[in-house]
Amino acid sequence: MRIVLVGPPGAGKGTQATRLAETLHIPHISTGDLFRANISQQTDLGKLAKSYMDAGNLVPDEVTIAMAKDRMEQPDAEGGFLLDGFPRNVSQAEALDELLETEEMKLDAVLDLEAPEDEVVKRIAGRRVCRNNSAHVFHVTYTPSKKEGVCDACGGELYQRDDDSEETVRKRLEVYHTQTEPIIDYYKAQGLVVTIAATGPVDEVTGRALEALKHDK
Ligand code: AP5
Ligand code: ZN
Repeated sequence: MRIVLVGPPGAGKGTQATRLAETLHIPHISTGDLFRANISQQTDLGKLAKSYMDAGNLVPDEVTIAMAKDRMEQPDAEGGFLLDGFPRNVSQAEALDELLETEEMKLDAVLDLEAPEDEVVKRIAGRRVCRNNSAHVFHVTYTPSKKEGVCDACGGELYQRDDDSEETVRKRLEVYHTQTEPIIDYYKAQGLVVTIAATGPVDEVTGRALEALKHDK
């Protein structure tokens, strides 16, 4: 399956993508994670991306599309993929369509995660991520690690993302509404959108997502 996940910052895209990718046997491709890996390796791309990310803005399309294309062309993505955080505006969606067309591929679904703004702000404020593995994500009150600051899965250090400050979160939400939400209409016109509520326990949201994807097939 080829799936795009869309939803505001903190809706739980990363959390759900990890689980869905495992169940559906497809790679989880997160442009945010790819940028953060570049930042920690101090590459030129990482240096460029960090300035945009810390301000809550989108990284320019040209570098983002090239990076996403490169990742989607890796052998493990041949049979399908779950895109998390890409596309993030209409021109990225058009670039993805072009790429898929060249490869004679199609998207199966666009899964839209809906969550109220006050809830996503709370989720982001309490999020802690593992330095060793971006799939190890916790929340100080909702899903706390057994030992504060230490990852349950691998013992790695948990940290708070630089772009998770309240001011940057507000900016990211504004960017979501103005630039990313229009892709939902873009994909509705293609009949691809399935919307689910992303509130309630993580397992319940995963169940809803799998159900929605099955109905859409
Ligand atoms: P990115 O990393 O994609 O961030 P985002 O879209 O803002 O999404 P988040 O990672 O903040 O949230 P999420 O929905 O994954 O939630 P999570 O599962 O962690 O992008 C970061 C930046 O990179 C962008 O601002 C931009 O600058 C740049 N970028 C990336 N892609 C780009 C692109 N295509 N073009 C241009 N620029 C790009 O969950 C959040 C918290 O809630 C966690 O603590 C989790 O444990 C908790 N939680 C999750 N589900 C539940 C639940 N059901 N109940 C209770 N708590 C929950
Ligand atoms: Zn870990």
